[in-house]
Amino acid sequence: MDTAELAGKHLVLGLTGGIACYKIAELTRLLTKAGATVQIVMTDAATQFITPVTMQALSGRPVYTSQWDARIANNMPHIDLSREADAIVIAPASTDFLAKLAHGRCDDLLSTLCIARDCPLLVVPAMNRQMWQNSATQRNVAQLRGDGVEVLGPDSGAQACGEVGDGRMLEPSATFEAICAFFQPKILRGRRVLITAGPTFEPLDPVRGITNRSSGKMGFSLARAAAQAGGDVHLIAGPVALETPWGVYREDVQTARQMYDAVMHATPDTDIFIAVAAVADWRVDHVSEHKIKKTAGQPLPSFNFVENPDILASVAKLPNPPYCVGFAAESGDLDVHGEDKRVRKNVPLLIGNLGPLTFGRDDNEVVLFEASGKTRLPRADKKLLARTLIGEIAKRAPRVGGDSLLS
Ligand code: CTP
Repeated sequence: MDTAELAGKHLVLGLTGGIACYKIAELTRLLTKAGATVQIVMTDAATQFITPVTMQALSGRPVYTSQWDARIANNMPHIDLSREADAIVIAPASTDFLAKLAHGRCDDLLSTLCIARDCPLLVVPAMNRQMWQNSATQRNVAQLRGDGVEVLGPDSGAQACGEVGDGRMLEPSATFEAICAFFQPKILRGRRVLITAGPTFEPLDPVRGITNRSSGKMGFSLARAAAQAGGDVHLIAGPVALETPWGVYREDVQTARQMYDAVMHATPDTDIFIAVAAVADWRVDHVSEHKIKKTAGQPLPSFNFVENPDILASVAKLPNPPYCVGFAAESGDLDVHGEDKRVRKNVPLLIGNLGPLTFGRDDNEVVLFEASGKTRLPRADKKLLARTLIGEIAKRAPRVGGDSLLS
């Protein structure tokens, strides 16, 4: 099975005139690397900013720019090019092109292709802030949204013209993420998901501390998959070097107690709580104010440990808890420890894996433990596994005012 994220997807990527055309070279690479086939179509204006030669080399397919291109056998490129597409993405979408789309005008290949399409249309606006704020543009964008067109962005910040404000095209990586999300079924729409991820760090003194080998990848992948599924995702992360997934609200913490406080504060607004963090079980009862020195002839330092709060068990114990999902990283005997832990933490679902076989890796193999028994999932890339797990969790978590799909 091809596990690339966009394997099997065919996109028509339409470029219109704007300096942001340079970003489309990178976007094309991201899309093709993820397994999509990309058919580039450019307006005349776009070819002033980036050449069809560059776009052909990056997409690996001939580029179309003209309605009168005779390379298509029936001479109808506006019909043929879109028929096998899963979506048309216009990036960058200029002010003029948005106006054309809103009014159904079609005086070149790309605009004709859009009006003749039978697939979804996504636009990624890019323009000067005044052009974006102009009431005509805002009217056109509202019209497009009303017509079911997906509008991605724009971003805010420094612009090529030297001004600062709304209108910048989303960065290629953000556009890529938004396109991937577009293709995912919205099984968590309207549901608020709280996720803990990564290790915690328990200080011993101002420069040292106790932590563990959790990379945070599984928790971050779950946050990404939950956001792609339409969930409203709040991620509480220990110290990790990972980028915040697109569309996710992230809060950084260091210690188990900080994580506990952040979770307890967020829980009343949570429908589903997924505890993926590898929380330190203990902390020292006294953190040295100054760096502990190695002094010849002095006894070695010793520490008294006290137990950290169990975040998952505390949430599960609340009078009206969200649907709670635990994770367990064991070093052996997963079948026994997984079910024991689920019962001990009093959660309906616990996802177990063998820690040494997953820490820091890009793939993972897990077992689902629940009262009705256990289910083993095949080893998979963490991103794809996360999507599967979000599907399993969405099926089980009670819907607002109703039962879960499994009950
Ligand atoms: N967990 C938590 N707070 C803690 C410890 C664990 O929320 N203080 C959560 C983890 O995020 C995970 C689950 O509980 O979802 C199991 O974590 P694990 O470390 O395996 O459990 P422990 O109770 O610490 O058990 P063990 O004795 O195996 O360390």
